Amino acid sequence: MIEPVYKRVLIKVSGEALACKTQDGKSFGIDSDMLGSVAENIKKIYDMGVQVAIVVGGGNFWRGAQNSKMDRTRADHIGMLATVMNSLALADAIEQQGIPVRVQTAIEMREIAEQYIRNKAVRHLEKGRVTIFGCGTGNPFFTTDTAAALRAVEIGADVILLAKNVDGVYDKDPVLCPDAKKYSKITHQDVLQKNLKVMDSTAASLCRDNKIKIHVFGVKDSQNMIKAVCGEDIGTLVE
Ligand code: GTP
Repeated sequence: MIEPVYKRVLIKVSGEALACKTQDGKSFGIDSDMLGSVAENIKKIYDMGVQVAIVVGGGNFWRGAQNSKMDRTRADHIGMLATVMNSLALADAIEQQGIPVRVQTAIEMREIAEQYIRNKAVRHLEKGRVTIFGCGTGNPFFTTDTAAALRAVEIGADVILLAKNVDGVYDKDPVLCPDAKKYSKITHQDVLQKNLKVMDSTAASLCRDNKIKIHVFGVKDSQNMIKAVCGEDIGTLVE
């Protein structure tokens, strides 16, 4: 029996991880198979007795910062709504695995979800409910990475699990530079000083200041999330 090394984790699920691939190679919307496979992995972690909180991005529907013609605050509000769509879809898929789920949103939308209340979120986790946080931080100009860092600090998560297209943190972009070197361990300070693009700087400094570990690994291998929870030496550990 494989043993988890963490008691409470915050998983950052990117919107892209849920998306359908369109014919022109782009990603958009929600693919039910992708959704099901993310939910299956979450079930495996949950079944190990780990408390699971989730922050989900919205990039499969909307990228606020890239809509440069639009007022940034308005664009970010649309992005927050995109995260709610993903949160509800993910909640449904996880419930289909037989796991109780609660969705809390940083912006109140009572008819759809509970509002975010930190103590209630912690209680949900203690009672064995997967808890999904929608709407990012509820503020424009902040990314869902920052929401993941903030919620991880608030709920006292042991680690942020960050699945990425690239299988860890490299000294330079491995897609453009074949000689890029992968770090197996690195500090938050290195991430910030070397501008390594693990997370945006607001999120990375929040993690550094509050000593939150970040485990970065490749999204393509579906076993990686479980390996990370079991403390296996995959990807890059930022601590
Ligand atoms: P405990 O108090 O620990 O038993 O938690 P609970 O979540 O089971 O109880 P609660 O009565 O708070 O919630 C029952 C159900 O209603 C859950 O599915 C909640 O997610 C949902 N719920 C609670 N508050 C709200 C809300 O403000 N809006 C919406 N849409 N659903 C809510």
